[in-house]
Amino acid sequence: MMKTIIEPFKIKVVEPIRMTTRKEREHILEKAHFNPFFIHSKDVIIDLLTDSGTAAMSSKQWGGVMQGDEAYACSESFYHFERVVKELTSYHYIIPTHQGRAAERILFHVAIRNLGAEQAVVPSNTHFDTTRANIEYVGAKAIDLPTEEGKIPSLRKPFKGNMDIEKLENVIQEQGAKKIPLIMITITNNSNGGQPVSMENLKAVRKIADHTQIPFFLDAARFAENAYFIKLREPGYEHKSVKEIAQEMFQLSDGCTMSAKKDGLANMGGFLGLNNRAWAQKARSLLILTEGFPTYGGLSGRDLEALAQGFKEVLEEDYLRYRIRSIEYFGEKLLAMGIPIVEPPGGHAIYIDAKAFLPHIPSAEFPGQALVNELYLVAGIRAVEIGSVMFGKNATMELVRLAFPRRVYTQSHVDYMLECMEEIVKNKKHLRGFRITQEEPYLRHFTAHFERL
Ligand SMILES: Cc1ncc(COP(=O)(O)O)c(C=O)c1O
Repeated sequence: MMKTIIEPFKIKVVEPIRMTTRKEREHILEKAHFNPFFIHSKDVIIDLLTDSGTAAMSSKQWGGVMQGDEAYACSESFYHFERVVKELTSYHYIIPTHQGRAAERILFHVAIRNLGAEQAVVPSNTHFDTTRANIEYVGAKAIDLPTEEGKIPSLRKPFKGNMDIEKLENVIQEQGAKKIPLIMITITNNSNGGQPVSMENLKAVRKIADHTQIPFFLDAARFAENAYFIKLREPGYEHKSVKEIAQEMFQLSDGCTMSAKKDGLANMGGFLGLNNRAWAQKARSLLILTEGFPTYGGLSGRDLEALAQGFKEVLEEDYLRYRIRSIEYFGEKLLAMGIPIVEPPGGHAIYIDAKAFLPHIPSAEFPGQALVNELYLVAGIRAVEIGSVMFGKNATMELVRLAFPRRVYTQSHVDYMLECMEEIVKNKKHLRGFRITQEEPYLRHFTAHFERL
């Protein structure tokens, strides 16, 4: 067997990258007030801002786009999408939405309003920002229960995305099951380094859900990456197909929200999956109010076709092997250069510990922002700070996330990124911190202006 893992695809359509010089980038950064969210994408050489909605679609997906049935009601494309999703998840009701947060808004409205919002508590391994915001928006409380090992960036453990089961039991005992509309598990755990959740952990939550009659939901944005990690790391799953593992994960739950902009391998889409008939009826009424008729939910027929095909392709093991390995390769090389990262590398991104990498820049001077700006200056790479800029005084770490779009970049792009990091390592003592000169009261990282110190 050959050892080299290659991109398991040929390139049929290309999108040119405009190369820029360091001098040009200096000027672009200044104009963007040293905030990469303001850099026009045409001025970015490698864009690692997010893995959401940035995948390259296959020829079969583009073929599906041409066949999209754009009927307002009961389009064939919806039934194709529904067939594929039901086969994967076994949920009784599949409700399409334009993206993940729309599914979240509808689910929490249905599940929490029934309960008396002020008292409701929703535990998770770690809620994604939009999930937390949608829970808080209806007046309930979102709580994160990651395991202790999940909180230590340098610790190499196979399932650092898991939920702390003992803490979950304590929360249920303290609050009472009636106050908990559902338990949520994010697979993989995006806000905790993209780390996977084990099947054992999902089974333990199922057991508690059965015992307490609390519904159990997945935030399944990266279900295929999670299933592949289970195959690689969890005893007993090495001989199962990734699809069988994914089916088992879904069958342990009572429903899910899905941002299909990740493992749907498409640029837009999502859905809410449910087994509860009464909830599905209420969800569809809300869907009609803001998203659209229940067979399109804010999506075009062509989007539904692209997703139906994407959900099949994302489970191909050659694809997953290439994807997980290229991120792992990048992480290994960074570690070899002495660059501290969240370990082991997660499914969709590498997170650099900027505080440990640039110890001469205090948190108040934003070491993550310093690194993000240097990545752009040296090589035109766009990444995102996840630290004091994003969370203010609540930040516990100063991370820089490099998220990999699916099927977009090749091995030589990764080598280019590594060369950039080598340059930064040589020069890191000279990097300086930043000061915020303008900011908004909410979500300031998107629009803040900075100045070099
Ligand atoms: C784990 C997780 N849940 C939910 C969402 C929200 O999905 P969307 O951006 O499609 O609204 C995201 C998006 O990044 C995510 O990573």
